Amino acid sequence: MPRVVPVDPAQPDPAAIADAAEVMRRGGLVAFPTETVYGLGARGLRAEEVRKIFAAKGRPPGHPVILHVDGEAMARSLAAEWSSSASRLAAALWPGPLTLVVPRAPAVPPEVSGGLDTVGLRAPAHPVALALIRAVGEPLAAPSANAHTHVSPTTAEHVVRSLGDRVELVLDAGPSSLGIESTVLSLGHDPPRVLRPGAARLEDLRALEPRVVHEHASIEGDAARAAPGMAAKHYAPRTRVLLAARGGEAIAQAIARAGLERARVAAIVVTDGARRAAAGCATVVPLADSPEEYARGLFAALYEVDRAGVDLVVIEEVPADPGWWAVADRLTRAARR
Ligand code: TXA
Ligand code: MG
Repeated sequence: MPRVVPVDPAQPDPAAIADAAEVMRRGGLVAFPTETVYGLGARGLRAEEVRKIFAAKGRPPGHPVILHVDGEAMARSLAAEWSSSASRLAAALWPGPLTLVVPRAPAVPPEVSGGLDTVGLRAPAHPVALALIRAVGEPLAAPSANAHTHVSPTTAEHVVRSLGDRVELVLDAGPSSLGIESTVLSLGHDPPRVLRPGAARLEDLRALEPRVVHEHASIEGDAARAAPGMAAKHYAPRTRVLLAARGGEAIAQAIARAGLERARVAAIVVTDGARRAAAGCATVVPLADSPEEYARGLFAALYEVDRAGVDLVVIEEVPADPGWWAVADRLTRAARR
């Protein structure tokens, strides 16, 4: 099992950060907390260390990873071109849950970008992540710290469960405050295009860059290479997922139609009606009827369902409202097989 080092999320102990930085300088993988999800980190400008991340996750090489920076100056050093739009977005929304995809500077190894000529950059709003980047003194490559296609981890325990010994050290700062990954925005497209909906809201992006486009449809095949985050199967728990319309009636029908004993079924519900309809299921996880709170609990709920060892999880759909975009995206993907 990896070494798990507890660390205060607000005021990380410098000794714990130095310890983790030292592991990275030796070429080891460190999982660290961010405000979105936990990341699996290595030094981002060293190809052989970045390759270890892909091996640990079982991630295909064509799938780019994000470089985490401590602010705009470091980001500029990694971009071949830093537009006024990039400046405006970074100034307003960093540190925070926004990844900017920009043209890649030669210093960034192609491994980071999965061979693309762009690079995804993000300054995380988490004191532990920022302290680690500063202690190492270099950008950190870090995808979510889960096995490929599995659910992103929002606690150190999730990381250990998903990756086990494939990570050397885990900095444990408690649950991630946002609970869903960053919004990925490509500035290489004209107009700028959302490649992955996430914790930064579309309206906040559009307030700064009104031309931002977002297509709900997921991309498959060739197009998925240009926007790898859109590959359909992603964020899937091991348990089969069935989405059901909101309200008790649809949940009751979905459970009945599955033809399973309730002891083999779990449910993730929002409304009171759905909660009542799911009574008697092996695990019923209630989540709040607000996109921010729901997002904070979703991945933990999926890990809990997997742990319950049931055959099916019925998930109550969320409103088709722009505020729910990231959650709705994750649910659609989780239900896809
Ligand atoms: O919140 C987050 O973004 C977390 C934390 C750890 O920062 N990281 C994360 O990384 O979710 P990952 O690798 O699981 O997802 C990054 C997404 C992927 O969908 C990837 O395809 C996309 O960002 N991405 C990264 N660089 C890209 C690039 N150059 N072009 C297109 N998409 C890119
Ligand atoms: Mg991921």
